[in-house]
Amino acid sequence: MLRYNPFKPGSIIHPGMFAGRIDELRALETALFQTKNGNAEHFLIHGERGIGKSSLLMIFNYYATGQITTIEDNTYNFLSIGIEVEPNDTYEELIRKVARELQRQLDKNQVLKKRLKDVWQFITNWEVLGVKYNRETTPPMLCLKNSRTNWLQ
Ligand SMILES: Nc1ncnc2c1ncn2[C@@H]1O[C@H](COP(=O)(O)OP(=O)(O)OP(=O)(O)O)[C@@H](O)[C@H]1O
Ligand SMILES: [Mg+2]
Repeated sequence: MLRYNPFKPGSIIHPGMFAGRIDELRALETALFQTKNGNAEHFLIHGERGIGKSSLLMIFNYYATGQITTIEDNTYNFLSIGIEVEPNDTYEELIRKVARELQRQLDKNQVLKKRLKDVWQFITNWEVLGVKYNRETTPPMLCLKNSRTNWLQ
């Protein structure tokens, strides 16, 4: 009898077929837990081609956004965004990418947007450490403050 092989090398594995990676999942969940409690953690996933980086990240994304319960039986509620970093990206471009994606995610989720009304006000019109984000500009535009306190767009 012929059996269908669900594994497709090169494409991300879905939660139903995801196996193992317990240590990695625990480490990633620790980062979520610390971040949730106000102590943000960073991590970098690296490894050989086809080793399972994207699949692990996808499960982690499900963890972070509460689409699945974690191995420690927690359900998180992070807003997750993904950006692609390219070699020629400047700091401004990176910030612009983050802001654009954040806005896109919030636009998609009106319920969350409503709940985050105050935070949204902050996100869409903020100024932190010399970086100003102006929500009136379309498409989202970041303004950077130079040393003479002029605003560059
Ligand atoms: N945890 C896992 N359980 C089962 N299969 C897996 C798992 N992780 C990866 N695979 C298998 O390995 C293949 C490659 O995984 P994935 O695309 O996540 O690797 P990658 O490291 O992101 O690859 P690349 O370096 O090409 O971006 C998947 O198509 C899947 O078949
Ligand atoms: Mg990959």
